[in-house]
Amino acid sequence: MAAVLCGLGAWLPPRVLANEEIAARLDTSDEWIRSRTGIAERRVADPGTSTVDMAVAAGRQALDSAGLTEVDAVVLATATPDQVCPASAPQVAARLGLGEVNAVDVNAVCSGFLYALATASGFIAGGIARRVLVIGADTFTTLVDPDDRGTVPIFGDGAGAVVLRAGDADELGALGPFALHSDGGLAELLMVPAGGAKQRRSDNPHDYFLDMHGQAVFRQAGTRMAEASRSVLEQAGWTVGDVDRFIGHQANIRILQTTAKYLGLPQDALVVNIERTGNTSAASIPLAMADAQRDGTLLAGQRVLLSAFGAGLTWGATLLRWPALANV
Ligand code: ACO
Repeated sequence: MAAVLCGLGAWLPPRVLANEEIAARLDTSDEWIRSRTGIAERRVADPGTSTVDMAVAAGRQALDSAGLTEVDAVVLATATPDQVCPASAPQVAARLGLGEVNAVDVNAVCSGFLYALATASGFIAGGIARRVLVIGADTFTTLVDPDDRGTVPIFGDGAGAVVLRAGDADELGALGPFALHSDGGLAELLMVPAGGAKQRRSDNPHDYFLDMHGQAVFRQAGTRMAEASRSVLEQAGWTVGDVDRFIGHQANIRILQTTAKYLGLPQDALVVNIERTGNTSAASIPLAMADAQRDGTLLAGQRVLLSAFGAGLTWGATLLRWPALANV
């Protein structure tokens, strides 16, 4: 039994934070941010808008797009749940009126959406669910130190969602194979040091924000995304030349370009929306899917490679032939 993508939704908070506004406050410039990251602006959730709120908005759209009012499970990829305990997925399911469904959070940070797709595919393959709402939602700006010019320009908030249903492996939209990996030995490259069970309290307020070793992360990201991509292509019997669109986690346009170069993929195969979203962590792949679907650059039947890399470290890839979708 394969998991088939049959619905898509996305939601961004209305507040736009442009590079110029950051440059007015921190020692940086629009030119530096654009040329080093490809980002011109990002969206920021106001304090009244939480990860659950954004997930509900994107999830509702994905259900509409799939023509469904019920699912058997909700898998929410997030590193910024509304509370540390409990998970946010049950609240999302309740707000969407989905009843007492199977609902769980998956935290693989920026790779979270791929891990959530794999979790949902496992529910379907194991006969645990026939229809699963998979959401990637992060309010990552809440983890960013407002005084850190190294991270403020990079991250934004948002949510994206898909619906998976049980189907056949040869249908358009069938997902897989998957390659999923981690290296916890490098966890400190991207970490919020305090507030968890290890460092419970800190007198240094900066310890409650993301500490990122940008260059080291950059070096890992392209290599790892290319490795995982090659692995799923080989498992599926596809060549790089078969790939029409590459939807990678939108962390930095140069990471996407480097990954394409390592793979031997033409740059015009890249789906890129980072200029307007920044890095939205678990939301980035479904947000890029929704933008490309809406602007007509992602078409039914195209062969699509998905890959992500993030804190953990975690990374992975999967692929599908793009389905015909309604109401996105
Ligand atoms: N404006 C101006 N100068 C800056 C800024 C800024 N916003 N940020 C850093 N600099 C300076 C640095 O201080 C440094 O100055 P120095 O040479 O005097 O020391 C110089 O620019 C170069 O810094 P680098 O860190 O080498 O810059 P780089 O080209 O690597 O770009 C960046 C930094 C954009 C962070 C890049 O390393 C990157 O994108 N890394 C990957 C980050 C990433 O993907 N993170 C998310 C992973 S996903 C997740 O799970 C959260």
